[in-house]
Amino acid sequence: MGLVYPLPSIRHSASAKEIRLEDCLGKTVLVIGGGGREHAIVDALSRSPQVSKIYCAPGNAGIGEQAFSVPIRDTDVAGLLAFAKEHEVDLTVVGPEAALSAGIVDAFRAEGLAIFGHTKAATQIESSKEFAKKLMAKYDIPTASYTAFSDYQEALDYVKGRPFPAVLKYDGLAAGKGVVIAENLEEADAALKSMLLDESFGKGRVVVEDFLTGPEFSFMCFVNGTDVFPMPLSQDHKRAFDGDKGPNTGGMGAYTGLPFITEEDKEFAYKNILCKAAGAMVAEGCPLTGVLYGGLMKTPAGIKVIEFNARFGDPETEVVLPLLNSDIYDIFYGIATNDSRIVAPVWEEGVTLGVVLASKGYPGHYQKGYPITGLACVKAMVYHMGTAITDDNLVTNGGRVLMVVAGGKDVADARKKVYKEISKINCDNLFYRTDIAHCALDK
Ligand code: AMP
Ligand code: GLY
Repeated sequence: MGLVYPLPSIRHSASAKEIRLEDCLGKTVLVIGGGGREHAIVDALSRSPQVSKIYCAPGNAGIGEQAFSVPIRDTDVAGLLAFAKEHEVDLTVVGPEAALSAGIVDAFRAEGLAIFGHTKAATQIESSKEFAKKLMAKYDIPTASYTAFSDYQEALDYVKGRPFPAVLKYDGLAAGKGVVIAENLEEADAALKSMLLDESFGKGRVVVEDFLTGPEFSFMCFVNGTDVFPMPLSQDHKRAFDGDKGPNTGGMGAYTGLPFITEEDKEFAYKNILCKAAGAMVAEGCPLTGVLYGGLMKTPAGIKVIEFNARFGDPETEVVLPLLNSDIYDIFYGIATNDSRIVAPVWEEGVTLGVVLASKGYPGHYQKGYPITGLACVKAMVYHMGTAITDDNLVTNGGRVLMVVAGGKDVADARKKVYKEISKINCDNLFYRTDIAHCALDK
């Protein structure tokens, strides 16, 4: 499969002196972001024969192996624009939603620079739950039915008259913390107070929707207007601990090769959800020009949308992009320049599985700065999510720290490889789930 890459020992990002002749001939790409998702994007770009130089802003210690780190925040649009111009960047690729919501794509395009990602208007499909819900209702895209509120008392009265659990969603970007599944009135009341009275995430509305059941999965597509190119399906693990227990996190592991989703399911979701949404966004005057991520659920009443994201998922990207057999630069650049001749990407047959190593305490309070050793012995891809170099040592520098990803002939094979390789990593302050892909493997 060619998916097992030993990561070279960690060093600082290359210095200007290390730039070689061929660096002047190929394409220069700037990747925005600094997590595991961006490491996977940088890794995929580094496999492109056309790409000779990659910058990553802000990047992290692991990304610094494959790209020049640029100390500019992902939402500093003016700073990133000035950098791209000064360094003659041929293409910019945006990872995080915050940068898209800050209007980075609009700003780059206004200056004639090629950038992969959605405009601020198109990003509303993720940044506003109500925008997404209205779009789905108008274009008959299957999802839970909903009502939106801006008044605390009205929302509470509505929830009182409905069955529990109640699904409450803050209508804006809330770093994954804006969804509460309230088991009873007390929990619902606390959430509504926090969202509508205390305005914990800012001033906004709350969407109350039907509670759905069934396995969840992630369906990401590259989208250029009405052209929709599907990626392999994957499944994230949102809870912190084994058995899907504990608090919600950014994602503790993911894998491809989902046995519970049939080809017909995928076809249905592709046509009736992803393609319809792409068409709907064109009709609404804000075409998609990046990744559309469908967070979907296979309910007893069919496949429905839980949420849309306007970007690559994290940690899904870390298991999906290693399967790409096409030149990702062509896909990114084709979409960035609205080229109608984009060739559908080709994907490997095998499967991948990845496990996240997180700082103890995450997603709550955690300490940073713990040394990590043993990576040089790991015979799997190690994507860095939150690492830094201090005094020449690799140290933890975030909640989610590393993701170890391996390919295999099936999910069981990939899982075995990943856990074996993780045992070679030493760090006093990391924990990880031991049951990634349990939906696929455990009876
Ligand atoms: P979201 O941020 O919208 O993806 O929601 C976070 C998580 O909450 C999802 O991954 C689901 O597990 C759960 N969730 C969201 N909406 C619903 C729903 N309507 N019914 C059941 N679970 C939901
Ligand atoms: N893995 C979920 C997300 O990226 O939002």
